[in-house]
Amino acid sequence: MNNAIQTLHDHEQAAQAALSDAAWAYFSGGAADEITLQRNLSAWQNICLSPRVLQDLRDGHTRCTLLGHTSPTPLLVAPMAYQRWAHHHGEAGMAMAAAAQGCGMVVSHQTSTPLQDVAASFLQDNDRGPLWFQMYWQADRARTQAMLSDLEDSGYQAIVLTVDTPVHGVRDRERRHGMQLPTEVSAVHWHAQTSAHTPAQTSGLCAGLADSAPRWGDVQWFIQQTRLPVLLKGITHAQDAVRAMQVGAAGVMVSNHGGRVLDTMPSTAEVLPSVLQAVRQQRADALVLVDGGIRRGTDVFKALALGANAVLVGRPALYGLAHGGARGVAHVLRLLRDELETTMTLCGCPTLSTITPEHVTP
Ligand code: FNR
Ligand code: LAC
Repeated sequence: MNNAIQTLHDHEQAAQAALSDAAWAYFSGGAADEITLQRNLSAWQNICLSPRVLQDLRDGHTRCTLLGHTSPTPLLVAPMAYQRWAHHHGEAGMAMAAAAQGCGMVVSHQTSTPLQDVAASFLQDNDRGPLWFQMYWQADRARTQAMLSDLEDSGYQAIVLTVDTPVHGVRDRERRHGMQLPTEVSAVHWHAQTSAHTPAQTSGLCAGLADSAPRWGDVQWFIQQTRLPVLLKGITHAQDAVRAMQVGAAGVMVSNHGGRVLDTMPSTAEVLPSVLQAVRQQRADALVLVDGGIRRGTDVFKALALGANAVLVGRPALYGLAHGGARGVAHVLRLLRDELETTMTLCGCPTLSTITPEHVTP
């Protein structure tokens, strides 16, 4: 990487310069006035660190265990669609870089590279994080079952079911530029939703899309179709977290989809404590991950201090990919890892388990 690129913000600027206006609008944009998108960033910034000095820092490390997989670092790349639109290395390059940096990867249902190829790129690395796959609910249950079986066979270790997007959000920036994918890029595993019964009229709530939108009973069915653990992504309400535990989810991802779906929701940093409390009361061993606005190692530290098991990084990884391919992603993830380690050292925390709520002041 060139010396001018020292922060995730530098990567963002380089990505904007490398991408077309339409791609930039899609990858960087959020819903409506982008209030939630901005709030995700400022919420982490507004939490203060409360360091302890003169602690014993020998034998420090950042290892953590996620669903039985020991990972060198508590960072995962969030699921993001159409990565070959950002750079020809696409999901395979993203996977290679994430694995090389000891991070986990969650592959999007709207991946532009076959799921088997992404797995092959990722699984080569012994010192990697976990490999998970994100799915949206699809009305065709047989297709869902077939896909789950392919994922099991290809080495994926968990399924992430995204539940916050029954319809696309109001994306003004994206609409202004028109979301025109290049002809060589498509969501290779995605099938357009067809409702079981075509609505008689299309003036109802979101033109009949609500017919095929999943409900809690569908999630319960989904979880029963696979031997892999299932996490629900897009949980921001404590009562939904309780329901997630009741239907058998292995964990939740506190996420507002990076502010891309419903604008003026609170930031994930704000809702994380109440979701954590609800989950922990139900099941002490369930995972709680968080994403949205993580741009610094200090942000990662704060999420862990509030109680998250691990953190997902969205746009910054894409920005690294967009201007630098796999090398760009590796640099982004390395910066975050190094900043997290520096923060832990300066806060007096040699391991993740020594990071506590007392290390932050809201
Ligand atoms: C996403 N996100 C997303 N989430 C998901 O469950 N499935 C998907 O296919 C996508 N696609 C997607 C594309 C792009 C371009 C972005 C930026 C995001 C949401 C993503 O997983 C994550 O929740 C947020 O990106 C986290 O916020 P930050 O880190 O981008 O601020
Ligand atoms: C998005 C969809 C793909 O955020 O989840 O663009």
